[in-house]
Amino acid sequence: MWLEYASVEELEAMIAAGRIVAPYLHVGAGSNLLFVGDYAGTVLHSRISGIEIIAEEDDSVEVRVGAGVVWDDFVAYCVDHSWYGAENLSLIPGEVGASAVQNIGAYGVEVKDLITAVETIDVKGRKRVYAVGECGYAYRKSLFKSPAMKSVFVTYVRYRLSKKEHYRLDYGALRREWEKCPNPNLKALRQLIIGIRRQKLPDPAVLGNAGSFFVNPVVQRSKFEQLLKEYPTIPHYEVDGELVKIPAGWLIEQCGWKGKAMGRAAVYEKQALVLVNLGGASGLDIVALSDAVRTSVRQQFGIEIVPEVNFIG
Ligand code: EPU
Repeated sequence: MWLEYASVEELEAMIAAGRIVAPYLHVGAGSNLLFVGDYAGTVLHSRISGIEIIAEEDDSVEVRVGAGVVWDDFVAYCVDHSWYGAENLSLIPGEVGASAVQNIGAYGVEVKDLITAVETIDVKGRKRVYAVGECGYAYRKSLFKSPAMKSVFVTYVRYRLSKKEHYRLDYGALRREWEKCPNPNLKALRQLIIGIRRQKLPDPAVLGNAGSFFVNPVVQRSKFEQLLKEYPTIPHYEVDGELVKIPAGWLIEQCGWKGKAMGRAAVYEKQALVLVNLGGASGLDIVALSDAVRTSVRQQFGIEIVPEVNFIG
């Protein structure tokens, strides 16, 4: 069954009427889900809308945004109001509620850098506001992803944006592209990010995909140094003194998978971290490809890559 609510009050009424019985699954736009079978239970979705200012200082603004607002509509709203901070996260599919669950990130920014608090209600109707420090945020991780929190639904997310002009340009070739801009400003940076995403990532409305299919693996420094001897140009990001993050897309490409298909499921030709449905692949076909890719990376590099996508059913 599919249950949608447009306000906290509507959700509370559903809870009071005993309409939410296990098993249930709360979803956003579904852009990071892979259905491998039918879901035998209730699927819940928030349509809570609205963007309101709840605090304003000389140099920043704090806004409260409904979980059902489309993420990129919110980014566009920030850019239109000259609020800085969200622009590098332009065009990420999905909704505001999921942004706080997934800790979405791109081009040097993670949404945890903007979040101040997450408002929730649980399946028994108990409300709780989590300050950002209580949300357990790390790379593609949050408290809300843990199995124990499946009964907790995000209703609103509060973000702080800056009113002072500043840009995050440390990612890859971003600064060089930026320096070529005739009129470098907030709107231009959003357009630059949109351009980069469109070049590398397929539009899910055209070619079925869930963005990055795997999380980039984090390995011990000793392991990284061993790889460096064999692959002197291996791309990597320093995590801390002990750990190094390696792009899974690079590992997959080295294994020869880029652009390769298994039936109607394929590794995207322009970005090997993305698995695509060429049309007609089932959820299980995608899982089979994912397993084959994981096995190759394990055999060639001794590294385990883990899906970022959630398998349902
Ligand atoms: N690379 C390859 N071959 C490939 C893909 C990548 O060699 O086929 C290399 C690139 O040359 C580069 C490095 O891997 O040196 C990193 O590639 P890229 O900048 O494209 O980023 P990513 O690590 O593959 C991550 C996020 C993306 C995000 C980009 C930009 C994860 C799991 N993915 O990808 O997020 O847009 O960085 O910040 O961290 C998503 O989560 O759905 C997503 C698209």
